[in-house]
Amino acid sequence: MSETFTVTVEPLGREVEVPAGQTILEACLRAGVWLPHSCTHGTCATCKVEILDGEVDHGEASSFALMDFEREEGKTLTCCARPQSDVTLEADIDVDEELEVFPVQDYTGTIVEISDIARDIKRLRIELDRDLHFNAGQYMKVIVPGTEHVDRTWSMANSPTENRIVEFQVRNVPGGVATDGWLFKNAAVGDKVELSGPYGKFVLRTWEDKPVVMMGGGTGMAPLAAMVKHALLNEEYEGHITLYAGGRTAADLYDVDYFRELAEEYPDQFTYHACVSDEEPTEGYRGGLVTTAMEEDFDKLTGYQGYMCGSPGMVEGCLKSFMSRRLFPRDIFHEDFFNEGDKQTGLNSPLIKR
Ligand SMILES: Cc1cc2nc3c(=O)[nH]c(=O)nc-3n(C[C@H](O)[C@H](O)[C@H](O)COP(=O)(O)OP(=O)(O)OC[C@H]3O[C@@H](n4cnc5c(N)ncnc54)[C@H](O)[C@@H]3O)c2cc1C
Ligand code: FES
Repeated sequence: MSETFTVTVEPLGREVEVPAGQTILEACLRAGVWLPHSCTHGTCATCKVEILDGEVDHGEASSFALMDFEREEGKTLTCCARPQSDVTLEADIDVDEELEVFPVQDYTGTIVEISDIARDIKRLRIELDRDLHFNAGQYMKVIVPGTEHVDRTWSMANSPTENRIVEFQVRNVPGGVATDGWLFKNAAVGDKVELSGPYGKFVLRTWEDKPVVMMGGGTGMAPLAAMVKHALLNEEYEGHITLYAGGRTAADLYDVDYFRELAEEYPDQFTYHACVSDEEPTEGYRGGLVTTAMEEDFDKLTGYQGYMCGSPGMVEGCLKSFMSRRLFPRDIFHEDFFNEGDKQTGLNSPLIKR
């Protein structure tokens, strides 16, 4: 029988059995014990906790997200830490009471669609072996076929009411293991894929009924698409969403007609702007960055909520833009699409509280 250690999570007082080789975060999320997290790959520092008792192996934690002095002070990143003894930890558990927590589970999927939707971007639809329950904005880990358990995180773009087929929108990263090396190279309809989820704290707070402004860059549109579909099509959501989608050129944007049609169908609840930064806009598009368009439209965002998603640099730019319009940090929610390269360079913004 393989060894397990008991992790006690304070201030909840909950005990979780962690099998050998599993991270503390993974074991807790699978046991239905929510711990703060975002990237799940040791880059963002959202999952930092204090070890009150016991020993952990810090694993693959980035030296930028968990600095040497923090390791000496007894801090760790639960998404990378594996217990070496029974452990007691203290976490800052900030889960919204209205948020339904769905335990992480393993799934086997079959690819039912791979299609080109924009320059270097594919839509990947996977039929799962059973229903997945998740909150709009969350993501799954996909084990890259042909690797020794390398996993990558992709956000669901479908509404949570579509439980059986998940949709991912994925950008090719030159040299990337999952994209260049598999999805854009030899993945095919009918292939089997192992996945787990749902993960992440980037969820639409429909229960707050506040007007919402969203900014997405590239495939950063995926979780925002899930949120928009969920709010408009399936929830008794009374607020209004203004969505800014950004790309360098029109060839980099996707589902533009779909969002335009939604805006026509729900004029009181949804407004959509497609923005191109590196070419003269043609009819129906706006020129410039999403932040420029948003700042042109809004003098002040007090009373709103802001959601933003994309590369870490794009998220930082959007954060500054939201703050320039007096949106309080507590009303700003973001998902940074960190990749393995970011882990080595420490792209963590001092502006962003995690
Ligand atoms: C919460 C979350 C959600 C995400 N959702 C999406 C999504 O919906 N759609 C999407 O397209 N992406 C998303 N991403 C990004 C995604 O997880 C992957 O990072 C992306 O798909 C690239 O994976 P890859 O295996 O192809 O690239 P990787 O193999 O991870 O490589 C990425 C880059 O890092 C470099 N690199 C790799 N290892 C090292 C190293 N050791 N040292 C230096 N450089 C290195 C590579 O050369 C490459 O340039 C998300 C990320 C997060 C954190
Ligand atoms: S969730 Fe652990 S570092 Fe991002």
